[in-house]
Amino acid sequence: MTSRITVIPGDGIGPDIVDAAIQILDKAGCGLEYDYVDAGLSAFEKHGELLPDHTLATLDKNRIALKGPLTTPMGGGFSSINVSLRQHFGLFANVRPVVSFQGTQARYQDIDIITVRENTEGMYSGLGQTTSRDGSEAEAMSKVTRQGCQRILHFAYELARREGRKKVTAVHKANILKSTSGLFLAVAREVAAEYPEIESEEMIVDATCMKLVMNPENFDVLVTTNLFGDIISDLCAGLVGGLGMAPGANIGANHAIFEAVHGSAPDIAGKNLANPSSVILAAVQMLEHIGQADNAARILTALRDTIESGDRATADLGGQHGTTDFTQAVLDRLS
Ligand code: NAI
Ligand code: MG
Repeated sequence: MTSRITVIPGDGIGPDIVDAAIQILDKAGCGLEYDYVDAGLSAFEKHGELLPDHTLATLDKNRIALKGPLTTPMGGGFSSINVSLRQHFGLFANVRPVVSFQGTQARYQDIDIITVRENTEGMYSGLGQTTSRDGSEAEAMSKVTRQGCQRILHFAYELARREGRKKVTAVHKANILKSTSGLFLAVAREVAAEYPEIESEEMIVDATCMKLVMNPENFDVLVTTNLFGDIISDLCAGLVGGLGMAPGANIGANHAIFEAVHGSAPDIAGKNLANPSSVILAAVQMLEHIGQADNAARILTALRDTIESGDRATADLGGQHGTTDFTQAVLDRLS
């Protein structure tokens, strides 16, 4: 059983919402110890590096991490720290659940969708990125492998089986992207045949977006390649009230990093306005992953009760309270 985890407070709203999640983990009596390390802009300002060796070593040692959003400076040729972390630790599966809570600003009720996004290949593999000297042409390469497709599809079906889910939808664009998306779809059909008890569906990504907005209740587990998964999971967050409600787990064979789906939200950073629910929900995912299902359920109940009662709601939830008040409302329910 894990007791020491790595914590990356991150940039922008990160430190405030991660601190909220840590207070809640402690109040719930999860018995965790923390190694705090830096990454992103805050690491660059302190250590001159976006991803210091010490951070990588600590992540490697503890294997489990809770992470705030990181700002990747634009320009200057910096590659995304999130993409680097996912590739470095082989965090091939990005699991992004969205669940309706009453009392949010969401247009829908009863949503319960998990997006399983391939996290290391595709358009985000970082390969072949060039811009011509005169700036008139740019290229980037998308690479998917049979093994990478098999791994993510098996992961999605195993998750569906474990959680008693009914349907897995493989999202693709094989009609146009015949090689890359075509390979993903071919493997999806092979893997689907191994799970006859689960309904399998295939859907083209643009149509998927339309159907998610029209009839989200028809979806259960979505599995897809990296870029489509990035976009679709934000769309799904919008179905349940916005990015403040959407957690994500980055899972590999030996390591896992739990975080919010959203970024560092510079527009509201330092103003005590952020909804910490996304990172609290990521902490719940983390507890489930490390075998603390009871504590995960207690925290989820406290969070659900806070949101559904409208107690000390943040602005994105339709209230007028800040991060600290909302966090206290959740803490009060864990006494
Ligand atoms: P963002 O996700 O930070 O913000 C988008 C919108 O959602 C903003 O209006 C923001 O105020 C709102 N929002 C986000 N989280 C919220 C919360 N917890 N409560 C209330 N409102 C919330 O996306 P943006 O502005 O495109 O990116 C900002 C920075 O974050 C960039 O540097 C980007 O690279 C980075 N980023 C990092 C990610 C990560 O570390 N996993 C993921 C996505 C972006
Ligand atoms: Mg994204």
